[in-house]
Amino acid sequence: MSQTNRKTVAVAFGGVSPEHEVSVISAHQVLAAMDRDRYNPVPLYVGKDGRWFTGAALLDLDAYKDLAALREKASPVSFAPGAFGRLRLMPQGPGGWFRMKADPITVDILFLAFHGGSGEDGGVQGLCQSMGVAYTGSGVLASAIGMDKVVSKQLCEAAGVPVVEYVSIYEWEWAGSEEQYLDRIESEIGYPAIVKPARLGSSIGIAIASEREALDRIIEEAFRFDSKVVVERAVEKLTEINCSVLGSPSEARVSVLEQPVRGGESELLTFADKYQRSQDGGPKRSLPAKGASEVSAGMASLDRIIPAPLDESRRTEITNLAKRVFQLFECSGVARIDFMIDEELDAVFFNEINTIPGSFSFYLWDPAGVDFSALVSELIEIGLARHRAEATRVRSYDVNLLSEKSLGGLKGSKSS
Ligand SMILES: Nc1ncnc2c1ncn2[C@@H]1O[C@H](COP(=O)(O)OP(=O)(O)OP(=O)(O)O)[C@@H](O)[C@H]1O
Ligand SMILES: [Mg+2]
Repeated sequence: MSQTNRKTVAVAFGGVSPEHEVSVISAHQVLAAMDRDRYNPVPLYVGKDGRWFTGAALLDLDAYKDLAALREKASPVSFAPGAFGRLRLMPQGPGGWFRMKADPITVDILFLAFHGGSGEDGGVQGLCQSMGVAYTGSGVLASAIGMDKVVSKQLCEAAGVPVVEYVSIYEWEWAGSEEQYLDRIESEIGYPAIVKPARLGSSIGIAIASEREALDRIIEEAFRFDSKVVVERAVEKLTEINCSVLGSPSEARVSVLEQPVRGGESELLTFADKYQRSQDGGPKRSLPAKGASEVSAGMASLDRIIPAPLDESRRTEITNLAKRVFQLFECSGVARIDFMIDEELDAVFFNEINTIPGSFSFYLWDPAGVDFSALVSELIEIGLARHRAEATRVRSYDVNLLSEKSLGGLKGSKSS
């Protein structure tokens, strides 16, 4: 493909999210893997304060060790509409107060490499949607529902996808009715019970309670992170199985399955364990409060078995469920759907969906012969195809209802 036919792809990452750094890494993986013969990648970094930047300085992963210095070298950027559903990035040059204007960059598609925050919960997807620009991954609704553990469960339940017993609580309901809620949780769920802020990720604020006092305390604690909390039955004999799905609802493919494996002496890891490994490589530990323990999936640092050692019928059951969930949420691009097997009940439950999975779950596509570079190309092409399809739908009418002729009709209808 000639240089001029190359699509310009702005890889957008960072953002106001606890997973800011994870996103920086995912984005750099994407930038490194992107096929330069087909695409021209441009970095588009959102700082921890929500400001957007571009520029070559952002391509150096080492530079992220000093975020303040990096911002000085990068160019703040604003957006303007471009022709044919494209977006113009309007960078000011780097250099503090005396910034020069740099040339605008016309972008064909935004490659969204955010984790958590408005980059994954539908916020940035909505921004792209209303600017009319193509973007990779799921749309506004799938992203927003996927971020909400309660609404995700409700959607699955309604479609017959099994979920573990749960109770959802808004902060305003909890206040003054604590004892009633604790009674209800004890009778509907029992112990151990796992408490999660409804719309966070990375196991932040998640803990397990084995008695009433601890349950009360960790629910209070979870409300520090979110105004909605979900309490679930904690599966004791647990096997976790994740499945990645790629494509669109009408053409969805499922990956091999992975089984994340918890480290030896502690089955429960914290956010720090997951991302802030100490210098000697061992995880930093924090002591759980009495009757409670913190939990993490630790996807970034835990070992995993690929393919998961499951028998054929279990594998088929889970891949069918994964595909069904992808379609139900109307996902696009790649999503990772996480399941729990309750070994005691010999049953599978939906746990959560990640509409922008860590590292785009490339490691689950590699075994099927789709390497990271091919995955990135596919995500871009799916995003562009959806954008083209949307452009052909009727979204407004070329009739001006305020024109002289139409106004007559409108007045007529009003007075009749
Ligand atoms: N009902 C449950 N019973 C037992 N363990 C659970 C249950 N729900 C979650 N866990 C454990 O806690 C981990 C984190 O839960 P979950 O995936 O719902 O939260 P998250 O905030 O999205 O975290 P992460 O990003 O680490 O996956 C799971 O991977 C699993 O190990
Ligand atoms: Mg998880």
